[in-house]
Amino acid sequence: MTSSDLWDEDTAERYDDSSAAMFAPEVLDPAVEFLARLAGGGPALEFAIGTGRVAIPLAARGIPVTGIELSQPMVDQLRRKVPAEALPVAVGDMATTTVPGQFSLVYVVWNSIGNLRTQDEQVQCFRNAAQHLSPGGRFVVELWVPGIRRFPPGQSAVPFTVTDRHVGLDTYDMVTQQGTSHHYHRLEDGSVRYSYSNFRYIWPAECDLMARLAGLTLEQRVADWDGTPFTSDSESHVSVWRKPPDANDEASARP
Ligand SMILES: C[S@@+](CC[C@H](N)C(=O)[O-])C[C@H]1O[C@@H](n2cnc3c(N)ncnc32)[C@H](O)[C@@H]1O
Repeated sequence: MTSSDLWDEDTAERYDDSSAAMFAPEVLDPAVEFLARLAGGGPALEFAIGTGRVAIPLAARGIPVTGIELSQPMVDQLRRKVPAEALPVAVGDMATTTVPGQFSLVYVVWNSIGNLRTQDEQVQCFRNAAQHLSPGGRFVVELWVPGIRRFPPGQSAVPFTVTDRHVGLDTYDMVTQQGTSHHYHRLEDGSVRYSYSNFRYIWPAECDLMARLAGLTLEQRVADWDGTPFTSDSESHVSVWRKPPDANDEASARP
């Protein structure tokens, strides 16, 4: 049982087009480069692999990649691009699903860990990552910093994009750390399509604590895939936690 919204067929079919900006070489190439360097040629596991935006170019660099993904329709879209022999994917929840093997790199990108909407599941996700890592292996999370500093008192929504085609707003509940991204897309015929996605927001410090509970240690935190230093004004982070090279402790051992 997961708290995540299930991405449906319609969303999956539109995903690559509606996320075209995230497929642009200037966005994708630094991410693939960063992950390839950390994988060091070893096998990699992507949680919430989606349609393979990152995994497919990473695999094309000769790194064996496996995925875990909750939505069968998203996997169906990935399968239109690459066969299972080249990129195996287990359909399931990234907090609990296991796949065979040990990995030098486990990663979850584009804020996807926030799709797990309880603290327990997010803690479990870090544990699941640690359990799939070989000793010395790394867990990488790309995540935005909650935009709460933008809220003047009394305001409940913060815009993250405003164009003539797409207006996006985030609303937050600061008591429960729940949020919703609201999207209003203007279509060719002039009508407006509304969609939303729910998330639980986490600060970097809470991520670090979850990593510690899983037996991982922070190795690096930068603001983006280009390695921009992380500062108090950063709106995102790419964090790397490492499993001890001699890992043998209870927190990171497979159950
Ligand atoms: C923003 S997309 C990212 C997909 C891909 N990693 C990318 O960067 O394009 C988020 C993905 O997370 C998946 N997802 C949401 N909750 C999940 C869960 N509990 N376990 C595994 N995947 C999940 C969704 O189905 C969706 O494919």
